[in-house]
Amino acid sequence: MTIYLDSAIISEAQTAKELGWVKGITTNPTLLSKTDLPVETTLKELAKLTNGPVFYQLISSELDEMVKEGRKAFEIIGYQTVLKIPATIVGFQAVTRLSPEINCSVTAIYSPAQAAVAKEAGAKYAIAYVNRATKLLGDGIALVREMASVLANSSTEILAASIKSPEEAAASLQAGAHHLTLPLSMLQAMATDRLSLQTVEDFNKNGRGISY
Ligand code: E4P
Repeated sequence: MTIYLDSAIISEAQTAKELGWVKGITTNPTLLSKTDLPVETTLKELAKLTNGPVFYQLISSELDEMVKEGRKAFEIIGYQTVLKIPATIVGFQAVTRLSPEINCSVTAIYSPAQAAVAKEAGAKYAIAYVNRATKLLGDGIALVREMASVLANSSTEILAASIKSPEEAAASLQAGAHHLTLPLSMLQAMATDRLSLQTVEDFNKNGRGISY
């Protein structure tokens, strides 16, 4: 299992790096539009702040343009590149074309059938938008479970995205997700529990008299 930062903000990527246990960065056009830097600069800086994958989502919608854009992203990011390609007819065509040369993920999957197509197209990751699926379909965790069943014994791994609480993160893993991507605030929330803080405070109070 790996946990990624879902952000294109350089300072957040720096903080995630300092956490030590965050192993890559996912971006999307909305996240990239929140920075003032040119996309190329942002992607290069993000790649410097992780040893793991940097996910870049294609914005072209025509097949040859998508292939060109994917190759350009690879030139910028290098070996860390994972292309995020939308789950559409043309998107799956692009995955088939690009996956032999660049790691690809299929993004915005809303059905186990699409997960099966992602696998056949050669995607390394199938991305489930858990919270969006809950809002739109009723149960995003059930979607992850169904995708896991379809992808069992394949090399296509599930990346759970659009996660809005630590509980949703844990439930996604229990349902069969291999990886998670979360905003910085959610990563910090995952690592924090009021009871842990309380317990440590109790120990520290009791141990005030001891010396090393
Ligand atoms: C994942 O790769 C996406 O960038 C992200 O998790 C989408 O989440 P949202 O529903 O918060 O936009």
